[in-house]
Amino acid sequence: MMIVIYPADFTFNLNLILPMTNKLAGKAALVTGASKGIGAAIAKALAAEGAAVVVNYSSSKDAADKVVAGIAAKGGKAAAIKANLAKPGEIAHLFDAAAEAFGTIDILVNNAGIYEVTPIGSITETAFHKHFDLNVLGLILASQEAVKRFGPEGGTIVNISSVVAQVTPPGVSVYSATKGAVDSLTRAFARELAGRKIRVNSVNPGLIATEGTHAVGFVAGPEDAVSPLGPVGKPEEIASVVVFLASDESRWLNGQNLTATGQLL
Ligand SMILES: NC(=O)c1ccc[n+]([C@@H]2O[C@H](COP(=O)([O-])OP(=O)(O)OC[C@H]3O[C@@H](n4cnc5c(N)ncnc54)[C@H](OP(=O)(O)O)[C@@H]3O)[C@@H](O)[C@H]2O)c1
Repeated sequence: MMIVIYPADFTFNLNLILPMTNKLAGKAALVTGASKGIGAAIAKALAAEGAAVVVNYSSSKDAADKVVAGIAAKGGKAAAIKANLAKPGEIAHLFDAAAEAFGTIDILVNNAGIYEVTPIGSITETAFHKHFDLNVLGLILASQEAVKRFGPEGGTIVNISSVVAQVTPPGVSVYSATKGAVDSLTRAFARELAGRKIRVNSVNPGLIATEGTHAVGFVAGPEDAVSPLGPVGKPEEIASVVVFLASDESRWLNGQNLTATGQLL
């Protein structure tokens, strides 16, 4: 007879028939742009590991409520909170509402971001600000708020960057530049905050099938197609890397830009 002994905090999620290890039990996480795509998968994955999760959205209330309901149905804790991360005035309010919902935040995932096709001749000041106000300034201001509010145990920031920061495909230079900035900010903040028990890392995905990539036409065919940036992945593939970076299992990683493309680039 085989006897299997599980650790005390080892539980089964019967819905998934996958072992859960509750590695984020007692933690609270805020995921920006979590009503859809990669952010929604991250929110669900963090909650599945025991974190209480703030599901931030800017306009898709129904989608955010659905993510929260899905988490609650599996016994997790989540709250949907509206805030436009491209509007600096709304960011402190988001963190205030998060504190009201779950107390001290331990994990910030800077996921909210946009990408549009902008060949050099069509780049406008508006397109520049649309990308940089959200992907860069929003990330800086959200990080600032999180750092002010992390408790004495410190915290973890995970930035969702992109492989385009390195491979810079034609036609998306402005977007690529925002993610180059995200990579630099990740390393710079990690150095600044290292003495305060705050780690900052980024995940740099290749192409992932999401509502957003379908809408702009980056993913048009079957979801398992191969793109010039590697195989087209699912949001869950990135979510599991984020769980790792948010948890103590990655305690020896700081200031890293982690490429996640399903292949060597
Ligand atoms: N998908 C990819 O292939 C890929 C690859 C590399 C990196 N990334 C990065 O991953 C992140 C998510 O991409 P995605 O493809 O999952 O996007 P998506 O499907 O378009 O979803 C975007 C999410 O961000 C939210 N959002 C948009 N503008 C916002 C704002 N101003 N304030 C707050 N939330 C906002 C949206 O919520 P509302 O609808 O409520 O606005 C939505 O929940 C982005 O940072 C993107 O650059 C994506």
